[in-house]
Amino acid sequence: METMRDGFERQITYLRVSLTERCNLNCFYCRPGEGKVPERDGMLLNDLVKVIRAGARVGIRKVRLTGGEPLVRPDLAELVSALAAIPEIDDIALTTNGCLLSAQARALKEAGLKRVNISLDTLRPERFRAITRNGEWSRAWAGVEAALACDLHPVKLNMVMMRGINDDEVENFVGLAKDRPLHVRFIEIMPIGASSQWATDRLVPADQIRQAIADRYGPLKPVKPAGGDGPARCWTIPGFKGSVGFIAPLSDYYCPSCNRLRLTAAGTLRPCLCKGDEIDLAAALARGADEDELIRLIVQAIARKPQGHPEHEILPVKDRFMSQIGG
Ligand code: 5AD
Repeated sequence: METMRDGFERQITYLRVSLTERCNLNCFYCRPGEGKVPERDGMLLNDLVKVIRAGARVGIRKVRLTGGEPLVRPDLAELVSALAAIPEIDDIALTTNGCLLSAQARALKEAGLKRVNISLDTLRPERFRAITRNGEWSRAWAGVEAALACDLHPVKLNMVMMRGINDDEVENFVGLAKDRPLHVRFIEIMPIGASSQWATDRLVPADQIRQAIADRYGPLKPVKPAGGDGPARCWTIPGFKGSVGFIAPLSDYYCPSCNRLRLTAAGTLRPCLCKGDEIDLAAALARGADEDELIRLIVQAIARKPQGHPEHEILPVKDRFMSQIGG
């Protein structure tokens, strides 16, 4: 089976798919704010399946469904079953804010979903309301519990760390991994969309967090990231069921191991998160593109992957909000 390498010898096996620009939350660093820009639903289910099947023909093995909030799409479980039927796709994961998950976790698991990442930036209900512009923390937490109860393992909790906003919660987040098989990951904020002007000022370098955790719990032991080939670096703490990890695009330059393409909710392939260069698959499909044509465009997107952002610096990304690209 064919797999594709880009111009920098990186094997591209992973497609992140944004299913919609809509979200039931409105996190201030990710989204334009309610009613500020019109929001698109993603591609139709049949088109998504066509694109992902074509991707599978040239080496895509892992798909992550994201958004916006993928759980607002009524046909999500149907999509998961259709993707589970593509033999080459051996990993189907979901990124969600968790708020709608408790009602859907079981059905998604049965449809063939392997695992979930839940984005949760605070454990304080008041603060959650502020960050998400009116979300209900208890719903998100119910989603975490549903993911654990339905064996959507490994369950990862992704926390975007922002100085002066939630950087006083490291210890509480780490504590979650003590008695539960939760993989808590701290993410460095990137200057994209809503945060493009200020992310650098709010950055908390991953090393600083790791040091604080080691000071509190003793030396950390490196472990292979649970179920992943992504950029996270993970550690165990003696006596903990889960792990802690760091996704540090700024202090731990990982572009050299990038293995991904993104499909935006607008139906474009985006070879690199940080570069406003896209290939319009939706337009090609509207013209009646067949599988060979889709394959040709996917191969083109892989060839157009840039080497990466400059080491330790991401130039502000302004062409789209994160919720449009698919975080
Ligand atoms: N920097 C880092 N992570 C971000 N996300 C959204 N915007 C940013 C940003 N500017 C995260 C969300 C979620 C994931 C999908 O992307 O918080 O965890």
